[in-house]
Amino acid sequence: MNQKPVLLITRKLSRNTEARAAADYDVRLNPDDVLYSPDELLEKCQGVDAVLPCHSEHFNAELTARLPDRVKIIANHSVGVDHCDLKALKDKGVVVTNTPDVLSDATAEIAMLLLLGAARRAAEGDHMVRSGNWVHWSPSFMVGTQVSGKRIGIVGMGRVGQVMARRARGFDMEVHYYNRHRLAADKECGAIYHDTMDSLLPVSDFLSLHCPATPETTGFLNGEKIGLLPDGAVVVNTARGALIDEPALANALRSGKLAAAGLDVFASEPGGNPEFAKLTNIFMLPHIGSATFETRDAMGFRALDNLDAFFSGKEPIDRVA
Ligand code: DGY
Repeated sequence: MNQKPVLLITRKLSRNTEARAAADYDVRLNPDDVLYSPDELLEKCQGVDAVLPCHSEHFNAELTARLPDRVKIIANHSVGVDHCDLKALKDKGVVVTNTPDVLSDATAEIAMLLLLGAARRAAEGDHMVRSGNWVHWSPSFMVGTQVSGKRIGIVGMGRVGQVMARRARGFDMEVHYYNRHRLAADKECGAIYHDTMDSLLPVSDFLSLHCPATPETTGFLNGEKIGLLPDGAVVVNTARGALIDEPALANALRSGKLAAAGLDVFASEPGGNPEFAKLTNIFMLPHIGSATFETRDAMGFRALDNLDAFFSGKEPIDRVA
């Protein structure tokens, strides 16, 4: 009888994912959901054919160089792969996959929640009622920014960006986008294309980020770019914290240049940015864009589909390296 491949699953995944993995692989699970240090991760990789990690495990060049040769595939449980040095892994002959498509709806839901919550001061209001400090009401109380009918600028019109555009249309928003390539008309659905960020920003009453963090996009939303947004704009980020120059964003929120921000991702995670915690006009969540029961199963299954393809000698559909 053929031996099952040995699979390291670095974090606690959905019950359905772990059950399916256990049926097809010799699995090494992490039932206590411990976040491994790089040395612990390398130790766990000993005697393993495949790893199914999350964005919380960093396969940088240094770790990749020390990865046991037996590891042949990193099947990520994430669409983002900025935690992997793709070149170093490819050079070492390690296949890398991700999980696109299956988290687009869940992530766009969180982007819309952040957009609405930031615009309508949800965090402030919730805190006030919860803490027993709601002692007053008047027409001039807790006035926020209306969403309906406004212009939204979407940076990165990939799978999540396109779902976000559909959700925004439900609020009668005028959709503008910047993408490396213009979409075909059937995918654009009337959204207005901008071939530069500098053209998109001045028409973005709401700006929602949906592009990957790469050397080109890291820190792109800096003080200069924020300055191009309309006064009182709202910034939403469900992609990666690295896209934003966080001190510049905090300054713009303090000065009133920006009305508010809604953030699910931060330059430093877990934990976020303590400076942001001092500002009442930021609505924050702890990187839960894809955290629904349905999507966790779908992400786990997609990662396993990629592993199954690899171990049956086929090309995994989501190969990125
Ligand atoms: C992703 O899939 O990249 C999400 O950020 C969760 O890891």
